[in-house]
Amino acid sequence: MTTVITGIGELVTNDPARREELAGQGGLLGLVRDAAVVIEGGRVAWVGPAADAPAADVQVDAGGRAVVPGFVDSHSHLVFAGDRSAEFEARMTGQPYTAGGIRTTVAATRAATDEQLTSHVARLVGEMRAQGTTSVEIKSGYGLSVHDEARSLAVARQFTEDTTFLGAHVVPAGTSAEDYVDLVTGPMLAAAAPHARWIDVFCEDGAFDVDQARTVLAAGSGSGLRGRLHANQLTYGGGVRLACEFGLVAVDHCTFLSDDDVAALADSGTIATLLPGVEFSTRQPYPDARRLLDAGVRVALASDCNPGSCFTSSMALCIALAVREMRMSPAEALHAATATGAAALDRDDVGVLAPGMAADLVLLDAPSYVHLAYRPGVPLVAGVWQAGRPVVAR
Ligand code: NIG
Ligand code: FE
Repeated sequence: MTTVITGIGELVTNDPARREELAGQGGLLGLVRDAAVVIEGGRVAWVGPAADAPAADVQVDAGGRAVVPGFVDSHSHLVFAGDRSAEFEARMTGQPYTAGGIRTTVAATRAATDEQLTSHVARLVGEMRAQGTTSVEIKSGYGLSVHDEARSLAVARQFTEDTTFLGAHVVPAGTSAEDYVDLVTGPMLAAAAPHARWIDVFCEDGAFDVDQARTVLAAGSGSGLRGRLHANQLTYGGGVRLACEFGLVAVDHCTFLSDDDVAALADSGTIATLLPGVEFSTRQPYPDARRLLDAGVRVALASDCNPGSCFTSSMALCIALAVREMRMSPAEALHAATATGAAALDRDDVGVLAPGMAADLVLLDAPSYVHLAYRPGVPLVAGVWQAGRPVVAR
């Protein structure tokens, strides 16, 4: 069956082949005006001016509204139980954010059944989808035992191929850091690896230092897992340079960066994934996206949806914050939340609307993608197609 979505006032393709068609911001996004998209068998079959669109079995009229690629949320921690709203409230009345809050969620997650964890992840993935997210990475990291990390990843695998083993989130109570790193790189890695594509470490004061992170990343690589890193979220440190040294595809947070860190990112090509919902929810200074972009660093945006530092699933909020607070243009922010998010997961099948790519599309109840930043907090998603199937319609 084929579907044609026609009457698209403004189509964001992110297709590099269309970059030359329009100057400036529209060029970055491979914008096509008065466009149509044909979907066949879960893939994009054709993109171009509506006037030239081939016939299809089903026709949908976008009514002049904008269509953008589905958001690619390359950083989330959805496998958890319990509630930390009291910690948020304390933070908003003066308490600082620390990594230690993670242990509260670990206790609740260990006590939850597989069914409870699965239905909670399903609810959050549904919440994301309704807001236009069609690809998501999901980390473990609230189990911190061999059994609980493996089952967290098995739960996550039901929802995405991009699962990440984050046994090295914090050292659980009652264990020394040395013993715990041995566990993470030994039996826990062996149990987790069959369910994971990636391995991640929270490299930060109060979590794991650079040497421990290096040990974990090296062990993961030996088991076939590709590395990612939480680094430079709360303090300056060597995490970002470690990520560049390993040639990781992405390093996440990047809030406190020295000039050397920025130069290392530019040289290595490692993507800096910025998570502005975290700074919003922890009342911290935002990362300087402009400084990174001006230095030639590729920037992605992701939600970091988690119960502690940032409990939002809204990529549109991240875009609005990136534009308002981090000096990204609306086009740069949308590109970072789609095409560069896909690159941060080393995915070449999503984030771009061109023939052969996954038919993951979002119809906005707005004439332009700019409304994602221009109308913060407003639910603009009128329709979502995931692998060509309509999954949200309003
Ligand atoms: O990405 N930074 C480490 N992990 C999460 C926070 C986890 C938590 O506080 O529960 C993050 O911010
Ligand atoms: Fe995180």
